[in-house]
Amino acid sequence: MSILEVSGLTIRSTSGALVRDVSFSLDPGERLGLIGESGSGKSLTSLAVTGLLPDALVVAGSVLLDGHQVVGTRDADLRPLRGPVAQIVFQEPLTALDPLMRVGRQIAEPLRRHLGLRGAELRSAVAAALDEVALADPRIARAYPHELSGGQRQRVAIAIALAAQPRLLIADEPTTALDVTVQNDVLALLERLVAERGMALLFISHDLAVVSRMVERIVVLRDGLVVEEGPVTQVLQNPAEPYTRMLVDSARALDAFLDAREAGA
Ligand SMILES: Nc1ncnc2c1ncn2[C@@H]1O[C@H](COP(=O)(O)OP(=O)(O)OP(=O)(O)O)[C@@H](O)[C@H]1O
Ligand SMILES: [Mg+2]
Repeated sequence: MSILEVSGLTIRSTSGALVRDVSFSLDPGERLGLIGESGSGKSLTSLAVTGLLPDALVVAGSVLLDGHQVVGTRDADLRPLRGPVAQIVFQEPLTALDPLMRVGRQIAEPLRRHLGLRGAELRSAVAAALDEVALADPRIARAYPHELSGGQRQRVAIAIALAAQPRLLIADEPTTALDVTVQNDVLALLERLVAERGMALLFISHDLAVVSRMVERIVVLRDGLVVEEGPVTQVLQNPAEPYTRMLVDSARALDAFLDAREAGA
């Protein structure tokens, strides 16, 4: 059975359809990229998958998360799915962090709720979770989010997302807010954790280079519609849609520019 099956997903606001008839699915352990320009509906799709869309938007179609219908289901009934089945890592780590709570307690929360850990066992699981995201310094657990760097915050957000051992990780532009060297470290971390745990990954980005490193298959969104889908190599080497070709060409042009600048420097 698929870990995620989206069919005919349509999201409307009062001003019209924002996501239209989107369908795709992910098998357990599979890594899928969702790409498209700004405003194409990537974040709305990822929020719909976990039932986190704002109430003002109207959703139709079907989202099966590990066989459970998300569309039309009350938030309270979705909560048990969010830990062990699917978790999101957002672009801006502060969205996921509580500014008034020490980092260690924020990681402890899902470990307690979903895995039932307590006492010494809980403390050592928090330390292990921080260690896993390469934040072994014990001072980190006692820090508040504002005392950490952007890269450290995103590592903490990843540790929180992974605490309940989700089978699907959704990463919505997880490194866009970070500077380039930190971006690479965080991507390498995500890559390693996804491989080690055999998680399925829905990776969202406008950056083709990043997406092609992280996933096996790509879905291309434009104006809320799926315009192309296929294995990464096929979509990048032989884009069928003019829109995808444009994305590939502009990524190549940027690479060529950066290469030329490096050669000249
Ligand atoms: N709560 C909302 N109410 C009304 N319209 C919204 C809402 N959230 C998003 N939209 C609109 O829906 C469209 C898709 O938004 P979405 O955030 O999914 O884009 P995106 O592909 O994630 O873009 P980006 O790359 O900039 O993050 C946009 O036109 C946006 O303005
Ligand atoms: Mg977005």
